[in-house]
Amino acid sequence: MKDDVAVDHSPDASAQPEMFEPAPAEDLPFAERRTEDVPGHWLLARLGKTVLRPGGRRLTEAMVAALPAAGHDVVELAPGVGHTARLLLATGPSSYQGVEEDPAAAKITGGVVGDRGIVTIGNAKSTGLPDASADVVVNEAMLTMQTDKSKAQIVQEVSRVLRPGGSYAFHELALTPDGIDPRIATDVRKGLARSIKVNARPLTIAEWKALLTEHGFEVVSVRTAPMALLKLRRIIDDEGWRGTGRIVRNYLRDGEARGRVNDMWRTFHRYRAAMIAVAIVARKAAPAGTPEEQ
Ligand SMILES: C[S@@+](CC[C@H](N)C(=O)[O-])C[C@H]1O[C@@H](n2cnc3c(N)ncnc32)[C@H](O)[C@@H]1O
Repeated sequence: MKDDVAVDHSPDASAQPEMFEPAPAEDLPFAERRTEDVPGHWLLARLGKTVLRPGGRRLTEAMVAALPAAGHDVVELAPGVGHTARLLLATGPSSYQGVEEDPAAAKITGGVVGDRGIVTIGNAKSTGLPDASADVVVNEAMLTMQTDKSKAQIVQEVSRVLRPGGSYAFHELALTPDGIDPRIATDVRKGLARSIKVNARPLTIAEWKALLTEHGFEVVSVRTAPMALLKLRRIIDDEGWRGTGRIVRNYLRDGEARGRVNDMWRTFHRYRAAMIAVAIVARKAAPAGTPEEQ
């Protein structure tokens, strides 16, 4: 198993991301919600942010590159605004199916996917997809916001939907180190809930791995990246210069949004030593005697 591969986020001007046009603020989920109450990721999306996950686009790219998506049936749970959907489609899967709980987000991803796949409105706990119908299942920045019970139900659902030997990959927030003081872990969870207005419940990397193995998965690789969602360097790396310019302009124009982003930044900074982004690729056990796919 490839364990703890740190993904390089060093600035590299030649590696600017392909531009991904943000959806208009009025089309986003929670568009009617007041700035002070909107979940942090949708607040950032209002400002023009398109990469809404803790390890940034490079951790996503490394995770997607490690998957056998080309020529296979791919399911993405909680695709949000469709950033990763586009990457998955670029690999040439034989099918793409997104399952997104929020109707507005499902519509946005549907627009990105077009006739190259299907996006349905549904819950990752109960996708409605047939048993053993997918080769690859992916989700990002979604399990972290679930209760322990829901996390287990979702991993169980992924196992049901995957064919034996299929791959499951997720990119989520982790607490670090594995032996973190439980009082610090509680502080981080409370601090995140207060600031991003979402009940974020990150696990340690050891706990994320255990969640997979308890549901019959074998962990294939673990990649990490700093949790740097609001660091300027990461924003440039994720969104490019043009995208960053738009985000900074929106941030400067909107005092209320600025106050919330500053508060989120302070929270992330306060707990920076206890948080890390992780992308794990796992494989559903194949019955004995079945040739393993790479
Ligand atoms: C932080 S956003 C991440 C979006 C996208 N995966 C990304 O990384 O840019 C979380 C997404 O998960 C979706 N979501 C949350 N719980 C879900 C569930 N139980 N089933 C399906 N989607 C869910 C939300 O609607 C939202 O689009």
